[in-house]
Amino acid sequence: MNAVQYMEHWAARVEATLDQLLPAEHAAPPIIHRAMRYSTLGGGKRLRGVLAVSACAAAGGDPERALPVAAALEMIHAYSLIHDDLPCMDDADLRRGKPSCHKVFGEAMAVLAGDALLTYAFLVLGRLPLLSGAAAPTALAIIEEVAAAAGTAGLVGGQVADLEAEGRAKQLSGEELRRIHARKTGALFRASVRSGAMVGGASQEVLAALTRYGEELGLAFQITDDILDVVGDTAAMGKRAGQDQERHKATYPALYGLERARAMAQEAIERACAAVAPLNERGQVLADLVRWLGSRDR
Ligand code: IPE
Ligand code: IPE
Ligand code: MG
Ligand code: MG
Ligand code: MG
Repeated sequence: MNAVQYMEHWAARVEATLDQLLPAEHAAPPIIHRAMRYSTLGGGKRLRGVLAVSACAAAGGDPERALPVAAALEMIHAYSLIHDDLPCMDDADLRRGKPSCHKVFGEAMAVLAGDALLTYAFLVLGRLPLLSGAAAPTALAIIEEVAAAAGTAGLVGGQVADLEAEGRAKQLSGEELRRIHARKTGALFRASVRSGAMVGGASQEVLAALTRYGEELGLAFQITDDILDVVGDTAAMGKRAGQDQERHKATYPALYGLERARAMAQEAIERACAAVAPLNERGQVLADLVRWLGSRDR
């Protein structure tokens, strides 16, 4: 299986797990469950989920056992996208090729669907001993890991910094911009890799290598996301290009220009590959995945 086939295979498995774990559409009150399922299912690359599964395998574990963690991570990611698209945040109407959650269900329901997905993800993680046979201390460590990544030291903190930096791209230092990206996007990638590895019973050494990999991949991923906003195609991406420039977002192309941003993404990809090189064959899929991410068009 090459990297693309591997991704497609596990993305489908993550999708099926999400479908199975999310509350049914008809469960009361149906409107919120419809909104949750609308924004979580049937779209998205499932990168965080696939990375959790791949890290579990790289640590020597059974990748199937990482699927509940993978689904929980994708729920948190879906919540972050619903809220990111709200008029009070990035005000985006199109997501994953469909109208954004608030366009279909209204703003109040979109806020609540995000809240519910975030909460539900932790319900799933709380059931890890049951769902994937994880030992209770492992489940607790994963809950702490994911909570830290989703909170003010991670995704939420990064989103705050992203909003505060609007209109100030050129005044930021490179280090400030890297810190924004590390939190708003990198933290959940790092936690995806780490929590998958924990399910797989990773040694401290392997966990340390995978952590570095996750951090570099997260940076490369967000730089590429910034670049795609400039050069990407709305139809391919399923979200509208050009929005960062409109909102004067602090992005790598805005601070460094496209060419330098591309080189910086490539450097982060090389560092991610170097981090997993000591894992030899077990690290190969992870290296292939991050290389693929550098050349993606969506
Ligand atoms: C988009 O993430 C949001 C960012 C963190 C840049 P993805 O590009 O992984 O979104 P989906 O899940 O594939 O839709
Ligand atoms: C989103 O970053 C990061 C999170 C949702 C946490 P962006 O605002 O760049 O994501 P897109 O481009 O809208 O997908
Ligand atoms: Mg945003
Ligand atoms: Mg956005
Ligand atoms: Mg973006």
